[in-house]
Amino acid sequence: MTASISPDAPIDPTSTDAWAELEAHHLDLDGSLREWFDEDPQRAERFTHTAAELHVDLSKNLITPETSELLLRLAREVGVEERRDAMFTGAHINTTEDRAVLHTALRRPAGSSPSLTVDGQNIDEDVRGTLHRVYEFADKMRSGEWTGVTGKRIETVVNIGIGGSDLGPVMVYEALKPLAQDGLEARFISNIDPTDAYATTRDLDPETTLVIVASKTFTTLETLTNARLVRQWLLGALRENAGLTSEQEKEAVAKHFVAVSTALDKVEAFGIDPANTFGFWDWVGGRYSVDSAIGTVLATVLGPDVFEELLGGFHAMDEHFRTAPAAQNVPLLMGMLNIWNVNFLEAETHAVLPYSQYLHRFPAYLQQLTMESNGKAVRWDGSLATTETGEVFWGEPGTNGQHAFYQLIHQGNRVIPADFIAFATPNHALADGDQDVHELFLANFFAQTKALAFGKTADEVRAEGTEGPLVAAREFSGDRPTTSIMAPKLTASVLGQLIALYEHITFVQGVVWGINSFDQWGVELGKQLAKDLAGAVAGDEAAISGEDSSTESLIRYYLAHREG
Ligand code: F6P
Repeated sequence: MTASISPDAPIDPTSTDAWAELEAHHLDLDGSLREWFDEDPQRAERFTHTAAELHVDLSKNLITPETSELLLRLAREVGVEERRDAMFTGAHINTTEDRAVLHTALRRPAGSSPSLTVDGQNIDEDVRGTLHRVYEFADKMRSGEWTGVTGKRIETVVNIGIGGSDLGPVMVYEALKPLAQDGLEARFISNIDPTDAYATTRDLDPETTLVIVASKTFTTLETLTNARLVRQWLLGALRENAGLTSEQEKEAVAKHFVAVSTALDKVEAFGIDPANTFGFWDWVGGRYSVDSAIGTVLATVLGPDVFEELLGGFHAMDEHFRTAPAAQNVPLLMGMLNIWNVNFLEAETHAVLPYSQYLHRFPAYLQQLTMESNGKAVRWDGSLATTETGEVFWGEPGTNGQHAFYQLIHQGNRVIPADFIAFATPNHALADGDQDVHELFLANFFAQTKALAFGKTADEVRAEGTEGPLVAAREFSGDRPTTSIMAPKLTASVLGQLIALYEHITFVQGVVWGINSFDQWGVELGKQLAKDLAGAVAGDEAAISGEDSSTESLIRYYLAHREG
């Protein structure tokens, strides 16, 4: 069944009663987090929610129960829940590309009933069929049944992709690295800077290397260029080291290259055997695709069981988002909180600070998810957005960030909402003498949100013996909004839950702003101009002098200084 969605203009959030009330409420809001916590001993409990295994404490945000109620009313008035339901049932909510948006279907458990059929396609059958092929391939690789052309077992899987065909796989691999099979590692090439391909393959043995070319469209310049570079390196090195003949080249490519794409014809034209190609569908956006065949590198190196657990985590959060009542629906509450922060408190950025070294690529992953989705000023009917949209997401793992940019969050004059993420059980429990180091780590996590919320008053500074101008420098205003997300442990399932949480938060914000969060036209102009500039960069004088004066002078600088 395909749900219908009104092609009408989005509801302008600023025209709703809830928006007007939120504006008035914002002006009236007084007090501070110190006062609100003193006045309401239940505040932490009131604002703490559970979603799957995630324990989410929103109480250190600049909200009162009334703020929360008004935000939920706004969500109702702009139809967030209707659009959510439309997404889950396969309506074409990606209006500019006339596509369904069904990443949630990628993680429906095997045997889900009733099965999901959209636009005449039995989605469940197709998803499970592809997963089955990916898992079969992964098992062969992991058992050593699949070998390279010289009969050696594969030891390194190199994923070549960019954007959604890279950031998700890298982030998940880094997060779950301890689960990689012994003797099997993943590497990633994304940048068209030739340094990336060079540095990644430099010390690899071509006989034990398998390459996955991952590209939804199979037209992406960076990925195809890198795939050709690596094919050149691999075949050249096999010729040199293993005496590969030109007759064996086709077999070598078949043994060492597989592809993941929605464009199977283009994969074949590139020379990769269709039997070694895993497909997905146009209803999966690139930045929502880590749980599709784009995760083949993960299923291979971490294993099908880990991949299934990851999918299970995604699904648990999907179910929460789809079914939890609004007042306990964490992605809905967090998405609406971001609306409050951006549109009422005028926050321009949002920090995501994982207290887990293994999540060091999580902020980078979220940058594509959130900013490629909601970095738009035009709504899904082509009209202009009526509010600020798309805040900047950024972050680094704690405690490194504490010694770098937290100064600005604590004492700068901008509102920077921050999500702090931590796990009760460490991946590696180490002790420094008698000191459990994870305890030290978590003490920092707890201390930071406490300092940001409650600050330190001038009187408290003076009470410590400080006088004069130094008092102001040592004062902390507090009232810096944070959300704390905790989970028992960083497992594959918890990681899936976290990713899906942010996918749905992004969705909620997009609906309120009236944005189609599933297209990305903003990346096209730069791609086009890069192609157009090829002649000038290669030194074509007529092309160079046809450029604007800045671009012309930069190209001339390049040509004058290029060595070799
Ligand atoms: O340029 C943006 C983008 O289209 C992303 O949305 C996408 O994840 C990335 O490029 C890579 O695209 P592809 O998987 O088609 O190579």
